[in-house]
Amino acid sequence: MNDVDEREQANGQIREAVEQEETFLRLIASGRLRGQAVPWTKVLVRPVALERGRSLQFSYFDGRKDITKNYRADQAREKLAELLAMPFRQFHVQSTTGDLYVRITKKGKVSVARAGPSRHETEPSLAHDRQKPYVLPVDKPDAFLHKLGLTDESGRPRRATYAKFRQINEFLRLLLQIFPLDELSGRTVNIVDCGCGNASLTFAAYHYLANIEGIRTTVTGIDANEEIICGCRELRDELGWEGVDFQVAKIIDFAPAVAPDLVLSLHACDTATDEAIAQGIIWGSRGIVAAPCCQHELHSQLGAPSFRPVLRHGILKQRTADILTDALRASVLRIMGHRTDVVEFVSPEHTSKNLMIRAKKGLKPGHRASVQEYQDLKGFWGVEPYVEKLLGDQLARYLRS
Ligand SMILES: C[S@@+](CC[C@H](N)C(=O)[O-])C[C@H]1O[C@@H](n2cnc3c(N)ncnc32)[C@H](O)[C@@H]1O
Repeated sequence: MNDVDEREQANGQIREAVEQEETFLRLIASGRLRGQAVPWTKVLVRPVALERGRSLQFSYFDGRKDITKNYRADQAREKLAELLAMPFRQFHVQSTTGDLYVRITKKGKVSVARAGPSRHETEPSLAHDRQKPYVLPVDKPDAFLHKLGLTDESGRPRRATYAKFRQINEFLRLLLQIFPLDELSGRTVNIVDCGCGNASLTFAAYHYLANIEGIRTTVTGIDANEEIICGCRELRDELGWEGVDFQVAKIIDFAPAVAPDLVLSLHACDTATDEAIAQGIIWGSRGIVAAPCCQHELHSQLGAPSFRPVLRHGILKQRTADILTDALRASVLRIMGHRTDVVEFVSPEHTSKNLMIRAKKGLKPGHRASVQEYQDLKGFWGVEPYVEKLLGDQLARYLRS
């Protein structure tokens, strides 16, 4: 049988598994065949019940946004055919009776494997999420979330702590958009959370990756406040989570035993975000995710005369300084070789500190256009960003060239 026939036969097995209404749970297409372009990093297909009857829901992820569409009958078949024709490297079908893996090797060979069921459902759940689905489980009791007071005994989010629950889920959702699970699994993921505070996000990141997804994970929360760290250690000991560690340290002074894959910094105060970004770059981390907090550093430096009508007003000056600070941080990350975006973290109705800078290694450092943009922006405003000072020659050598 030639490669084309093998591929068609494998696609037939995928179609057959997806069409089994009593057993089909999810199809995940991921990876990219070498030298080929796929518009999505991952596509997820699952059955949902709509008023018009059973449909297939296709969720398309590209690392920045996700698009979800529901299709019925012929249209669903058509969309599935389109998906199977895309140059993904792996198709994974999950059913109540077992899993099917179709992988395409670098040389275009097709390998088909079957395994026991990797999901625990005994029948497909057709619940249609009108809201954004939670990353953390809400359909069954979760001892950790219950202990934090975020859910009740049956696993449902509590009204009183809903904002925190939503923030944690949103944080995980945004993290997974740039680091899908298949990129995290297979080896230990080491995370440092800078300015962890009482560590609800630190614990949640560990809980989701290690306990729910079964990914080997270590998380080190660091904070300059000794009392806070003592409290975090107590909770860690109560939970008995050996993969979680806490250290009293200033972010800029912390020396991790193992260079972390991921650096988190969520609402750490003022220039602590710069310290976390600088450390993530210095440690060579694959990802840096920072939600900036209050920012004062550029406020007194702003000097563009044509902006006087803006800068005259305290609140406008503060917001201009905030935007500029984060734009310059994102720019530095790009120069240092990280694909970077700035997204809304939680809705502004809950907090004005609602931005998240997400950076993932993958660009050639020192890209000329990025350096030029950064220099132009700095020059226009007459500012010297703190993150530049922290990085010293590591950044300066690109700015000189
Ligand atoms: C607002 S709390 C955020 C806590 C947590 N990340 C969250 O999102 O819930 C900020 C924490 O950052 C810590 N922090 C501020 N600057 C720091 C620095 N330079 N080094 C270490 N910790 C710092 C503070 O002690 C505080 O606990």
